[in-house]
Amino acid sequence: MIPEPYRRKDLLSIRELSAGEILFLLDQTDSFREVNERDIKKVPTLRGKTVVNLFFEASTRTRASFEIAGKRLSADVINLSASTSSAKKGESLRDTARNIEAMATDVLVVRHSASGAPHYLSRELRCSVVNAGDGCHEHPTQALLDLYTIREHKKDFQGLNVSIIGDIAHSRVARSDIAGLLKLGANVTICGPAPMLPAAAECLGARVTTRLDEAIEGADVAIALRIQLERGAGATFPGNREYAATYGLTRKRLKGAKRNLLIMHPGPINRGVEMSPDVADGPFSVILEQVEYGVASRMAILYLLAGRKADEPPVSPPRLEEGGQSEAAPAGRTEDALAR
Ligand code: CP
Repeated sequence: MIPEPYRRKDLLSIRELSAGEILFLLDQTDSFREVNERDIKKVPTLRGKTVVNLFFEASTRTRASFEIAGKRLSADVINLSASTSSAKKGESLRDTARNIEAMATDVLVVRHSASGAPHYLSRELRCSVVNAGDGCHEHPTQALLDLYTIREHKKDFQGLNVSIIGDIAHSRVARSDIAGLLKLGANVTICGPAPMLPAAAECLGARVTTRLDEAIEGADVAIALRIQLERGAGATFPGNREYAATYGLTRKRLKGAKRNLLIMHPGPINRGVEMSPDVADGPFSVILEQVEYGVASRMAILYLLAGRKADEPPVSPPRLEEGGQSEAAPAGRTEDALAR
């Protein structure tokens, strides 16, 4: 698979991207990771650009990550949440977004409980729209940071066995991860209690099981998901104790797992439910790495949407040597692009 330049106005879903576009976004993330390792973590790349985070649902990671990403690129970043915006006074999503755009906003990052809200806004607005999670539909930037984390550890997606465990039916992360992993050649298994598997789960293209041991056996990566009580999972939730006993990742349940099984979770974690604390904090957990790479991944996305002129070549990321060590970036090009 060959990376294809990302030329879209928006980032709305993983399902609509080609494998080449996904690989390109992962490659671009390499370039921005280096900025986050500097003593002064700031480049002038998006100076004069405005990014607005419009969140109609709670968030810690995604909102902070976009804010940090924008600020490290020198953009002006504004955070608006439903509880403090005029949405509370009855203003429509369209009117709120059009008013924000009227203030010469370049990128609108939106999280909304309604599936399709970012797609709707992308048709209404000229500025770029990034989907930061829409209902049970998609969470494309979470998938990109998940894919990046997996690639860092496993190098190749072809034939990789990835199991996604938990409340698949209500999970936008699962939908985006499944789409991205399948496009890149991984084998995906979804596992959870039958009522938490989507209707016609097989249509997602993944192997389906209700048995955790089956999902763990042979897996290279296990992604545990939170039970989305706020989206109605409570109606079918067996209770914390029963769920933990049947689907919780514990050292005991992982006894038969492959050596070097990667443990992931998009957060927030309910410790003792989806996984035990010793697994969450154990040697095979990369949960905080996911968060770390999320900043670089979102810097790459903001740069591609707001910072690059249409006729400008993309940032040239450093190549990875076989051992995974970064080679020096091709003379000056990465630095030049980041310093603009
Ligand atoms: N993974 C994720 O979307 O976390 P937040 O809800 O905290 O943004």
